Amino acid sequence: MRIASTLNELTQILSKHANTSLGFVPTMGALHKGHLELVKKSIEQNDVSICSIFVNPTQFNNPADLDKYPNPLEKDLEALESVGCDYVFTPSKELVYPPDFIPKDFSFGSLDKEMEGTNRPGHFKGVAMVISRFFQLIKPQKAYFGEKDFQQLAIIQSMVKQAGFPVEVVPCSTVRESSGLAMSSRNMRLNKVQLVAASRIFERLRAISEMKSSHSIVAVKKWLNFAFLTDEDLQLEYFEIANPNTLIASDKWNDCDVHIACIAVFVGEVRLIDNILLKIN
Ligand code: PAJ
Repeated sequence: MRIASTLNELTQILSKHANTSLGFVPTMGALHKGHLELVKKSIEQNDVSICSIFVNPTQFNNPADLDKYPNPLEKDLEALESVGCDYVFTPSKELVYPPDFIPKDFSFGSLDKEMEGTNRPGHFKGVAMVISRFFQLIKPQKAYFGEKDFQQLAIIQSMVKQAGFPVEVVPCSTVRESSGLAMSSRNMRLNKVQLVAASRIFERLRAISEMKSSHSIVAVKKWLNFAFLTDEDLQLEYFEIANPNTLIASDKWNDCDVHIACIAVFVGEVRLIDNILLKIN
């Protein structure tokens, strides 16, 4: 596995593999099995795979969150090597955002107006900025994104369409702990009690999936709100049931065939997100 940190090193790698299929997995490091599944999928589907590790400052609306973001580079490199990743791109901020960098302007319609969009102002603008820059620099044929960040995936798909990037966006299923808790780099900030509490997030999403045949959307939302109100370890930030294509809140189950239920919860100071697809027969 080779590491590229400069533009020169990246260019050398890309010219060496000019006629091969290139898979790209963007990450912010602190890698876990969820990230590694994306890398494995890229390795399966491409001749060459490159994973980036870059904690992107433009997507953090809360500077304290950026400061606390873990950065275990040595461990990450070992993990990537162990799954057979070919290249790791670890650029500096100056490389990603040079002084003459002009971000592309995107318009996401309803996709960035709800949920993470309203609760993390500017977040998706930063995500689109860094991913469009990476797509320009790396020019992959395929790029891998987790369904765990469902709204991010929708934003990236829209961005690719708007910019006309010749990239296939490959969605990857959420990898979970045996408790059901979605794997996240933030889970390492949870203590034992909080880890147990956090597993109730997906438990409740699964319960919603069971309830959908017998309860209205209003009733399941009420149930979920109450479950969190009476849970002193978890603070609900939002819960929404939406059309997965537009992310506009659904009023009734028969509004569409599939809905996405998205949730954000604080466990102490750690903010976790998760989602579940709800198929209507
Ligand atoms: P990061 O949180 O490091 O996640 C990198 C990729 O891994 C994203 O596509 C995310 O959806 C996916 N991922 C995270 N946890 C996962 C899990 N449990 N199962 C499956 N996939 C999972 O998301 C970002 O970084 C950044 O916003 C980024 C896209 C790199 C732009 O800076």
